[in-house]
Amino acid sequence: MFEKEISVALAVEGLSEQDVYSALEVPKEAKLGDLCLPCFKFSRALRQAPPAIASKLAPYVQALPFVSRAETVGGYLNVFFDRNTVAAMISPLSKEECVARSSEGEGKTVCIDYSSVNIAKPFHIGHLSTTVIGGALYRIFKHLGYNVVGINHLGDWGTQFGKLIVATRKWSSLEEVAANDEYFLNSLYVRYHKEAAERPEMDDEARAWFKRIEDGDAEATRYFDAFKKVTMEAVEKIYKRLNITFDSYAGESFYNDKMQPCLDILREKGLLKESDGAQVVELDDYDMPPCLLVKADGATLYATRDLAAAYYRKQTYDFYKCLYVVAYQQNLHFKQLFQVLKLMDFAGADDMEHIAFGMVSMEDGSMSTRNGRVIWLKEVLDKAVEKAATIIGEKNPDLQNKEQVAESVGVGAVVFSALWNNRIKDIVFSYDKVLNFDGETAPYVQYTYARCASALRKGGAFDPDKADLGAITTDEGYEVIKSLLSFGESVRQAAKLREPCVVTRHIVDLAGKFNRFYIGHRIVVDDESTRNARLMLTAAVKHTLGTGLALLGIDAPEEM
Ligand code: ARG
Repeated sequence: MFEKEISVALAVEGLSEQDVYSALEVPKEAKLGDLCLPCFKFSRALRQAPPAIASKLAPYVQALPFVSRAETVGGYLNVFFDRNTVAAMISPLSKEECVARSSEGEGKTVCIDYSSVNIAKPFHIGHLSTTVIGGALYRIFKHLGYNVVGINHLGDWGTQFGKLIVATRKWSSLEEVAANDEYFLNSLYVRYHKEAAERPEMDDEARAWFKRIEDGDAEATRYFDAFKKVTMEAVEKIYKRLNITFDSYAGESFYNDKMQPCLDILREKGLLKESDGAQVVELDDYDMPPCLLVKADGATLYATRDLAAAYYRKQTYDFYKCLYVVAYQQNLHFKQLFQVLKLMDFAGADDMEHIAFGMVSMEDGSMSTRNGRVIWLKEVLDKAVEKAATIIGEKNPDLQNKEQVAESVGVGAVVFSALWNNRIKDIVFSYDKVLNFDGETAPYVQYTYARCASALRKGGAFDPDKADLGAITTDEGYEVIKSLLSFGESVRQAAKLREPCVVTRHIVDLAGKFNRFYIGHRIVVDDESTRNARLMLTAAVKHTLGTGLALLGIDAPEEM
């Protein structure tokens, strides 16, 4: 806060604004001020001892209207803001819900490819990260004024559909599949893999069926459509619970007729090489294995579809950035893809980004849908909601719309667990962790939000213009105020780093600070100007926590 103003004021005595800006620090301890400027780095250029520089600069800072005092300690210049001036700045946050809005994204379109589930597989916890990280980035960019296109690049193409047709015909029927859920479909898939291990001829049959899908054969398409419908209905239910939406469901099959122009460009540029009958782009010069685009039998691949998708997105949305929220397992795929696009002189080549994240494993090893070693997300959500319902039943049995609140709290806890750490961190799934509602968790933030809502209900209307700011500028209150005012910067950082956890951590920190304030200060007191100030602070906290939770896709019940 105020870094810019201070840098401008201190661009004197041979220092530039940039010198000062990059040197400013937030002191480790609050008693050392709000900002400090270590003057050691300037000593050589200015040919003066650091303490002398600090003393020389002090009056310039002191003259600023929002500064209460500037102290020199050794080579440091410590700056203390006027707490009332700072406190007055939160007033808008208490009136409007437009916390941290900005227009930095105006006129820029960001495409975000996330979740991108594979059809015919139920949603497991391995899909949680891409879905909620992508969803959070989607909302964060929107909040900053970007035009955002959420894309679910469905995995709706590939030999697994042939396998499922074989399994359905052997052990079930189209009707039975259509009447059942995604778990039934999955059991056929698991059974297929078990039996095909001993009878490899099943794979030939599966390939033949997939070929029929590719050729548009009516019977094969009926199966394919049924699989897709069952999966999509199930996935939509999950998205609804997670507050996830998309603007486009153009998946892999969408690009069936859009790959040829890309292959033509590659051929024209002499980039496509023949290798054992297959067509590849060699990437030796970039220390990567070749990118395989057409198999010897003429089949296209995942990468071929991604090439076509990149062109389609550029043409359709004219994106400023195109983000792919996909596990780091696919690092090589995206490095190859982006390199091939560069070689093709693709217009958006420098604006493609792989937003990688860590893997989820089970405590006793990795997950695999093929052999049924998975944790379904629905189960996790249901368990968390059940736990929330039990706690509400004990602590607040008369709560209205109990079920709705339990859903918000339970699902919130699960979503939060995937947004707490830096993306790249691997996660070992543990029910204990996900079902922990204490400490740094969504329920803790939700609880604080509800606490604010309750105080505001009790306190009634308040007038920020008639507030005694001194009633909120105690050490505890001042910490809350600073956290409120830096929330906007956290949202911008989250977008810039593509790290929703910056927002997650900020709201947990804010909730903690507010709770410390709340313990020491009654909100609804008789004195009107004190009450006005504390209600204003409470409202600003409520709106900021609510905005943060909403950006993460987590509901904020008014009561819990
Ligand atoms: N369906 C893929 C998978 O589950 C992820 C797709 C990511 N998006 C993309 N354009 N490649 O691994």
